[in-house]
Amino acid sequence: MLVAGLVVAGVLACAFFVLTMARSSREPLPEHSANFANGELLFWAGGCASCHAAADAEDSDLLILSGGRSLNTPFGVFRSPNISPDPNFGIGGWSMLDFVNAMVKGVSPDKRHYYPAFPYPNYQNIEIDDLLDLKAYLNTLPPSSNEVAGHSLQFPYSLRRGIGLWKWRYLARSRSDRTNEASEQIERGRYLVRGPGHCGACHTARDQFGGEITERLLAGAESLEFGEGNDASSAGRIPNITPHAEGIGGWSESDIAYALETGFDPDFDSFGGSMVEVQENMARLPAEDRAAIAAYLKSIPAISSEAH
Ligand code: HEC
Ligand code: HEC
Repeated sequence: MLVAGLVVAGVLACAFFVLTMARSSREPLPEHSANFANGELLFWAGGCASCHAAADAEDSDLLILSGGRSLNTPFGVFRSPNISPDPNFGIGGWSMLDFVNAMVKGVSPDKRHYYPAFPYPNYQNIEIDDLLDLKAYLNTLPPSSNEVAGHSLQFPYSLRRGIGLWKWRYLARSRSDRTNEASEQIERGRYLVRGPGHCGACHTARDQFGGEITERLLAGAESLEFGEGNDASSAGRIPNITPHAEGIGGWSESDIAYALETGFDPDFDSFGGSMVEVQENMARLPAEDRAAIAAYLKSIPAISSEAH
């Protein structure tokens, strides 16, 4: 019995070890000459400044990715790292491959898993060429020597190794490959929403382990983030943005594009909460991209806000 128990424990330990190992890609990257304008577009579409710039940053300060912003969640407080091009405090010393592994695999240069509070489950959908342009653009931003305190997470979330299990279960679910079944415009919208825009990170409901529930894509969720010093009960509800009557079924494509540009909905109420920064980022995209997002949101299945 004892021997059998030890064998089982050994097998489980090995399984844990293998399943939680951080794997990065060593595949060579394609030849690429950087398109900085496209890198800047990805930067705004991806909302990097909304987490990595200082909390009160505006205008050109949004380009100083000094980190330190707190994300208060039921798992504890995450503090965003410095991703400015400073070689010591930021990611200036990283290779392109280091950056791609972080964004696509959620793995650090020293082979640790990142928490999905960094929306790499969504960013894994960004095309390699776009990631290379994004990194080239990030390299042009001002360096910052801000040193960020680590996260304050509750046990067992404080164990990074456990994220390996999370990834094994959830990472593939957030993949969104090109279907080629829809128009170019809808494909572009799908790419922006499911990839850089990471709309589902807020608008898709999650299960008890924080994995997005695929069947509830963009049908609204409880907010995982709450204000500094507050508890989970102060977190709000994030609306359903599918074409369901309980979502934005009553909005036309141009209503959606207009709201992303100006922050005003069809009733002329303005966006509040965390959507304000998202909208300000969207306002910096070309009009065709906002129109593409609107076309995609009208094309997805209408889902009721209530889980059935
Ligand atoms: C919702 C907030 C949020 C957004 C948006 C976000 N990040 Fe992050 N990012 C984080 C957090 C939190 C971490 C730390 C994760 C960890 O410690 O496991 C992180 C970590 C990183 C890292 C690893 C840094 C290091 O020192 O190891 C990189 C690189 C990064 N983010 C790049 C980006 C880029 C590029 C964008 C925009 C496309 C972006 N992030 C958008 C929250 C965010
Ligand atoms: C950081 C979390 C977050 C992200 C990421 C996010 N949203 Fe939102 N969104 C919200 C919140 C919160 C609201 C509610 C705003 C309010 O109360 O005024 C909202 C509201 C909206 C609304 C209005 C819905 C209504 O019924 O009034 C639309 C449309 C929308 N978001 C689209 C998007 C799109 C498109 C993306 C991706 C490009 C996106 N959101 C990404 C948090 C987010």
